[in-house]
Amino acid sequence: MNRIHAAIVGIAASLFALPALAQAPIVIKFSHVTTADTPKGKGADTFKRLAEERSKGRVKVEVYPNSTLYKDKEELEALQLGAVQMLAPSLAKFGPLGVREFEVFDLPFIFDSIEEMHRITQGPLGQGLLKKLESRGILGLAYWDNGFKQTSANKAIRKPEDFKGQKLRIQSSKVLEAQFRSVNALPQVMAFSEVYQAMQTGVVDGSENTLSNMYTQKHHEVQKFITLSDHGYIGYAVITNKKFWDGLPADIRSILEGAMKDATKLANDIAKKENDDALEAIRKSGKSQVLTLTPAERAEWKKAMVKTHREMESKIGPELVQAFYKETGFDPAK
Ligand code: LMR
Repeated sequence: MNRIHAAIVGIAASLFALPALAQAPIVIKFSHVTTADTPKGKGADTFKRLAEERSKGRVKVEVYPNSTLYKDKEELEALQLGAVQMLAPSLAKFGPLGVREFEVFDLPFIFDSIEEMHRITQGPLGQGLLKKLESRGILGLAYWDNGFKQTSANKAIRKPEDFKGQKLRIQSSKVLEAQFRSVNALPQVMAFSEVYQAMQTGVVDGSENTLSNMYTQKHHEVQKFITLSDHGYIGYAVITNKKFWDGLPADIRSILEGAMKDATKLANDIAKKENDDALEAIRKSGKSQVLTLTPAERAEWKKAMVKTHREMESKIGPELVQAFYKETGFDPAK
């Protein structure tokens, strides 16, 4: 009798618990590798705030910045397995997924301005690239800006010859590998979270990155020189697990789409200022000497690195490369 009683009490208790269960928020784990005070960090935090406010608590976004949950390669695997729901990897990190087309963004000197970049990311070419992720179970939600890459090292790099023999950390992109091989440097793929230590211990001599990434990871404290080279671009694709996204209630999905649209605007609006502020802070720190290239010196870099375009064209897709040239006005002969 007692056992039956206990069972009835148990069933009643779980029935009472049901409404509470039904109201449990949808949790979105958003993992990324930069600190919270970067364009990406601020974009992710804005998305969290807007998604939670507008869904009135039906969605909870947990943001894990600075590789606290996963590093570069692991986070993509975690997304595909459903262990996290959102990421914003840099566009240079999609190659290992087998979507080599994304490496078109890494071609040196292909963009002269953010406006040229936006012509791609906000147009059909950018949307077409995001679509390619779907076969990997990934849905592309937006492009976020960071900015132009600069070059850091323990020697002053002004001329293409200065790169010779320098061990330089790169993101996992074959185009970036070819770019640094074109000037006889020794590129090494490494997770973003490991770069500071690798610089400190001499495992690498230098790297390329945006100023906001260098400053927030303290690279300037372990690099003697930063050359303002603007030779390439770092931007992001905000992505989610397609199955997760498709399975959301329609009203929640549209709230999240709205939150993403507004977070995208914020991230893109602040990106340039974040990099400008980082430059000022690096200069003020006095820890790393900032070098500016003359137009003639920069033209030499371009001449040396542009052979990467022809070399990598067949891997990226020649038509895609030509379509990018058409949109950006890039002329490999100039
Ligand atoms: C890097 O790995 O160098 C960066 O692109 C990291 C990031 O996400 O900005």
